[in-house]
Amino acid sequence: MEPPPLLLSLLLILCFSNTTFSVSPPVVLSPTPSPTSSPSRPNSSSSTSPSSPSSSSSSALDPKQLRALQSLNIPTSKDPCTQPTLLQNNITRCDSSKPFRHLLSLRLSNCSDDVALSFTALKSLSTLQSLQFVNCPIAPIRFPADLVASLRSFTCISSLRKLTGVWLARLQNLTDLTVSNVQVNASGTFVILGNLKKLKSVTISHANLTGSVPKHLNLNLTHVDFSGNRLKGRIPSSINMLENLESLNLSSNGLVGEIPTSFGDLISLRNLSLASNSLSGSVPESMSAIPGLVHVDLSSNQLNGTIPKYFSEMKSLKHLNLANNNFHGIMPFNASFIKRLVVFKVGGNTNLCYNHSVLSSKLKLGIAPCDKHGLPLSPPPAKEDSSEDDTSDSDYADNDGDDSAHKEHHHGPSKVVLGVAIGLSSIVFLIVFLVLLSKWCG
Ligand SMILES: *[C@@H]1O[C@H](CO)[C@@H](O)[C@H](O)[C@H]1NC(C)=O
Ligand SMILES: *[C@@H]1O[C@H](CO)[C@@H](O)[C@H](O)[C@H]1NC(C)=O
Ligand SMILES: *[C@@H]1O[C@H](CO)[C@@H](O)[C@H](O)[C@H]1NC(C)=O
Ligand SMILES: *[C@@H]1O[C@H](CO)[C@@H](O)[C@H](O)[C@H]1NC(C)=O
Ligand SMILES: *[C@@H]1O[C@H](CO)[C@@H](O)[C@H](O)[C@H]1NC(C)=O
Ligand SMILES: *[C@@H]1O[C@H](CO)[C@@H](O)[C@H](O)[C@H]1NC(C)=O
Ligand SMILES: *[C@@H]1O[C@H](CO)[C@@H](O)[C@H](O)[C@H]1NC(C)=O
Ligand SMILES: *[C@@H]1O[C@H](CO)[C@@H](O)[C@H](O)[C@H]1NC(C)=O
Ligand SMILES: *[C@@H]1O[C@H](CO)[C@@H](O)[C@H](O)[C@H]1NC(C)=O
Ligand SMILES: *[C@@H]1O[C@H](CO)[C@@H](O)[C@H](O)[C@H]1NC(C)=O
Ligand SMILES: *[C@@H]1O[C@H](CO)[C@@H](O)[C@H](O)[C@H]1NC(C)=O
Ligand SMILES: *[C@@H]1O[C@H](CO)[C@@H](O)[C@H](O)[C@H]1NC(C)=O
Repeated sequence: MEPPPLLLSLLLILCFSNTTFSVSPPVVLSPTPSPTSSPSRPNSSSSTSPSSPSSSSSSALDPKQLRALQSLNIPTSKDPCTQPTLLQNNITRCDSSKPFRHLLSLRLSNCSDDVALSFTALKSLSTLQSLQFVNCPIAPIRFPADLVASLRSFTCISSLRKLTGVWLARLQNLTDLTVSNVQVNASGTFVILGNLKKLKSVTISHANLTGSVPKHLNLNLTHVDFSGNRLKGRIPSSINMLENLESLNLSSNGLVGEIPTSFGDLISLRNLSLASNSLSGSVPESMSAIPGLVHVDLSSNQLNGTIPKYFSEMKSLKHLNLANNNFHGIMPFNASFIKRLVVFKVGGNTNLCYNHSVLSSKLKLGIAPCDKHGLPLSPPPAKEDSSEDDTSDSDYADNDGDDSAHKEHHHGPSKVVLGVAIGLSSIVFLIVFLVLLSKWCG
């Protein structure tokens, strides 16, 4: 008995299509990475001439400043004023003065170890209004007075090894100060803030800063971030004077005491984090008067009392984290409010519970349902419980009727793939079996 030719050709086709399958992935590879990476590579072969004759209308960078950039290891084969994209990592901005242009802003990032700041170079760069160091662990030096007078914005992220309060306090014309991931040795924040009277935005984070939150802050401040330091003491009630304050981040410090009752005077506030301190007492009623709150993080403190219902009336609120505190009583929010938020966390409050005739257990809030007295029911030995007691990672977007089901889609593709795989392999198996059978027969 001959093997059926149809089956043989099927086998052949399968064989060939198999090989093409295994070859196809490298063929599919498109040459995407190379065009994006090549323009960012500096042309190191020529590093002197500031020529860019193409744009004859604008003048070239001041040769003194060009030499200063070269001494900082910044490639200047192309004029950084006319072609700033060539210096992607070291962004520059220039004025348009004649005969030579001058640098207004400079960012040094990812410096190599052999780069050193020199007083002469910085003196040549005294037109800078903005100076940024990002990942440049070079030694700091005393800035020339001209540069100090000119600087309006100074950023130091994981750079300059170590700074002191006195060093920063000299930069008196700053409106923006950002220092992060750098040790700042200062006898309190006032050394810095008391001298920088023009500041509008200040970030000194993850800097091991000690002392307390100063009682007298510049009234024009819009952003204050002292997160990740070792600040101690209470939040001064005089903070209510900062009526322009839009964001306040005092998270991850050692602050104690209550949130000042005057907090509601901060009428411009949008982002607030007091997370990971040792604050106690209740959330002040006055916060209901802050109209534009977007982001509220009070997690990981010892706050107590009931959770204020007024949060649900805040139209812009997107992020509410009250987890890991000592709140008690019935959680006052309904499902439509909770689903409106991007982040909502209340887990880790052992005396807090939810009304199960208002909220479904599928919301996975990380707290127990209430009994009829408004006290948490002791957790039932049900299977749901295991998923409920991992507190903070609430994915409450589960199905509760209307806007559900996007989780279900995950099962779709994998089931189809599995089905196809099983189908294909059983066809192959059948063919092999038939071929063997026919050989054995014939
Ligand atoms: C680099 O500079 C050399 C000499 O000036 C020039 O011939 C070459 O085209 C340049 N390469 C790039 C990528 O700009
Ligand atoms: C600095 O280098 C890191 C990798 O070492 C890279 O991920 C990052 O994008 C670089 N930053 C800049 C601003 O070039
Ligand atoms: C950016 O500046 C730093 C410090 O001067 C230098 O080490 C680095 O090579 C520069 N990177 C680029 C891409 O120009
Ligand atoms: C701040 O800037 C003004 C005007 O630009 C200048 O007169 C003053 O000396 C500067 N202050 C410091 C401390 O450099
Ligand atoms: C802060 O202090 C700790 C312990 O003394 C140290 O490990 C950490 O590196 C310091 N942080 C900075 C930014 O220097
Ligand atoms: C900070 O400065 C004081 C004196 O100004 C010094 O005693 C102390 O050791 C310094 N701390 C650090 C971490 O450098
Ligand atoms: C606050 O800003 C206003 C205008 O922006 C300015 O006139 C005033 O001097 C500033 N006050 C302080 C204390 O910096
Ligand atoms: C508030 O925080 C969000 C990120 O959570 C950020 O995009 C926004 O710019 C911040 N707004 C202010 C005023 O700081
Ligand atoms: C506060 O700072 C921390 C750490 O620096 C950051 O993770 C968090 O997003 C900030 N929160 C707000 C509301 O700005
Ligand atoms: C809340 O905490 C404050 C300060 O620790 C305390 O005085 C008060 O008795 C507590 N209230 C409740 C209801 O636990
Ligand atoms: C949920 O609470 C909000 C705010 O309290 C309220 O406006 C809304 O009507 C409530 N929705 C339902 C379905 O009860
Ligand atoms: C839970 O909500 C229902 C319906 O709104 C209400 O009748 C009941 O009293 C609430 N339970 C508690 C313990 O507050």
